[in-house]
Amino acid sequence: MGNLTALTKTIRDLNGEMDRALAAAGDPAALEAFRVEYLGRKGRVSELFKTLGGTASEDKSEAGRLLNDLRDRTTRAFEDRAGGLQAAALEEKLLRESVDMTLPGISRPVGHLHPLTLVQREIESIFQRMGFDVATGPEIETEYYNFEALNIPADHPARADWDTFYITDTTLLRPHTSPVQVHVMESTPPPVRIICPGRCYRRDAQDATHSPVFHQIELLWVEEGLSLANLKHVLELFTREYFGEGYEMRFSGDFFPFTEPSVQVHIKAPGAARWLEIMGAGMVDPAVLTNVGYDPERVTGFAFGLGIERMAMLKYGIDDIRTFLANDLRFIRQF
Ligand code: DAH
Repeated sequence: MGNLTALTKTIRDLNGEMDRALAAAGDPAALEAFRVEYLGRKGRVSELFKTLGGTASEDKSEAGRLLNDLRDRTTRAFEDRAGGLQAAALEEKLLRESVDMTLPGISRPVGHLHPLTLVQREIESIFQRMGFDVATGPEIETEYYNFEALNIPADHPARADWDTFYITDTTLLRPHTSPVQVHVMESTPPPVRIICPGRCYRRDAQDATHSPVFHQIELLWVEEGLSLANLKHVLELFTREYFGEGYEMRFSGDFFPFTEPSVQVHIKAPGAARWLEIMGAGMVDPAVLTNVGYDPERVTGFAFGLGIERMAMLKYGIDDIRTFLANDLRFIRQF
């Protein structure tokens, strides 16, 4: 019986010691040290189990029960402590990483398209719905595409109308989008139905209606049997889509080397007093068709050139072309 009394006391002391050690173990390393020291294979609890061999046989089962209780209690206490530490660590982490939803956010301003791009896309979409493809060409052109192929020979006074910036003796910044007509027709057999938006350059002094850099949209339709009446119809559809109902349109004679006949197109807003020129247009000159290898006896076509700035100015009531390039956010943000 003395054996059991001694064992009970040992267990009580050990329990007290372990409780203090567990309470002091405040991190995973200390916990692991505890586990090795008390619950490990060579730990203090295992050592006690080894003494069972020397216990008197009548005390053995009671001693075994006491030791099993000790092991269970210690294991549970250890697991509780480990769980508690983990929960506390999680709590602390959550607190540290928590987001205050009431703080103001960081705003990232999202830009938007420039009014010229908006107008260009709107015009493209109107003509795309009528079956036109969008084509583009180079901004640096050769004299051939910019002049000769468009029926403007070297000594022709009309060259002065498209005076521009030369890069070399024979290459230049295009003053209009008409050369794109030539590129497309050279590489495509008729029928051709395209619009060509793009940037153009001229040696113009800057004022409210002139800019050395500006944008045009060219249109070209070549097929069998087209006449000026088709041009007029397409323009009426376009004017109604772009400006709305009630606009009047007027054709008057003009001259372009690459069209015959050539016309100027004016529009008048409902109730307005003045006619405004919106584009030059005409039936493609047979010489241009011949230059690209088309047969002018078989196909005819019409074309026009439209200033994008002008279309934006008319639509939004902008009175100075320089505002488009001035980068003034008070202007840009209105679109
Ligand atoms: N390229 C001419 C210009 O910039 C505009 C123009 C007129 C284009 C008549 C055409 C056209 O396609 O048929 O002044």
